[in-house]
Amino acid sequence: MSELVSLTIDGREIQAVEGTSILRAALANDIYIPHLCDHEDLTSVGICRVCLVEIEGRRPTVSCMTPVEEGMVVHTSSEELDQVRKVNMELLVLHHDYDCQNCAKNSKCQLQELTRYVGIDEDRINAMRQPELDIPLDDSNVYYLRDLNKCVLCGICVRTCEEIQGDECIDFTFRGIETRIGVLGDKPIAESTCVTCGECVTRCPVGALVPRHAIEPTYEIDTICPFCGCGCGVSVGARGGKVVSSIAVPDSPASGGSLCVKGRFGLGFVSSPDRLTTPLIRKDGELVEASWEEAISLIAEKFGQYKDGQFATIASAKCTVEDNYAIQKFTRAVMGTNNIDHCARL
Ligand code: FES
Repeated sequence: MSELVSLTIDGREIQAVEGTSILRAALANDIYIPHLCDHEDLTSVGICRVCLVEIEGRRPTVSCMTPVEEGMVVHTSSEELDQVRKVNMELLVLHHDYDCQNCAKNSKCQLQELTRYVGIDEDRINAMRQPELDIPLDDSNVYYLRDLNKCVLCGICVRTCEEIQGDECIDFTFRGIETRIGVLGDKPIAESTCVTCGECVTRCPVGALVPRHAIEPTYEIDTICPFCGCGCGVSVGARGGKVVSSIAVPDSPASGGSLCVKGRFGLGFVSSPDRLTTPLIRKDGELVEASWEEAISLIAEKFGQYKDGQFATIASAKCTVEDNYAIQKFTRAVMGTNNIDHCARL
């Protein structure tokens, strides 16, 4: 069983499970330590150096990489610490494209929050600025955009792709000032092995990865993804009577906060003008709209004409368990055949 250790952060005595980082222990106790590259779902790597703290008797250290210890005394702020953190912050934003007003992440950007909290010296940044890299926008993916001019190289997308999705389609490429996140051969993302799960898009702390059609919903409702039979938790956002967004429910027991491309980007079909909303019956070679009564009567008439072995059913993962039970019951008891299969029989 894991041991609890006691430590003090900014004068408050807290307890944390042995092995927890100082950063996570502090956040769990509502003590804010600025951080950028650390994410609760991922391995800590200590890239951004913004989460510096002072531990009595030691030099300043990154709190995301330092485990708690019994009796530790931690300070999250001091004149020296704030100054070093400020410089680290300035190095992070040095090459960041500052067109915040036109950024889809504006007002939800972690970098903006950090800049406000830590503070930066604009003059010093302008003096250090190198010529812009001006990397072309990668709009090759149908569902998300990749703007590397806004990337701060926190590596969250790289670790997400590797640790959450197991795809490893992106990594740090090039060197020095030209370092960027790229795919093999520096090709557009659509030409990589990316499966468009969007896990990296949801975790990107800045506007480097954003959904292509980002519309803010009026309200959101937690429900179950209607696609396959996994039952992933999805929070569906609606605006003006239409589905405009879907994000993962973090504590869903079935999916643990993950979604695939269908659940994350594919719910637009609900409001699609192409969606069939009335039955169609073929008359004289043309499909024409019909009433439900007309359609059901025609189906019953046709079903009555089938003989042994001529009938089979394909059930659907989009139906509820109860619907699928009724389908197999109908197939077996009414149509008298065991010819039944399912589209999600993986
Ligand atoms: Fe600790 Fe980035 S959050 S180094």
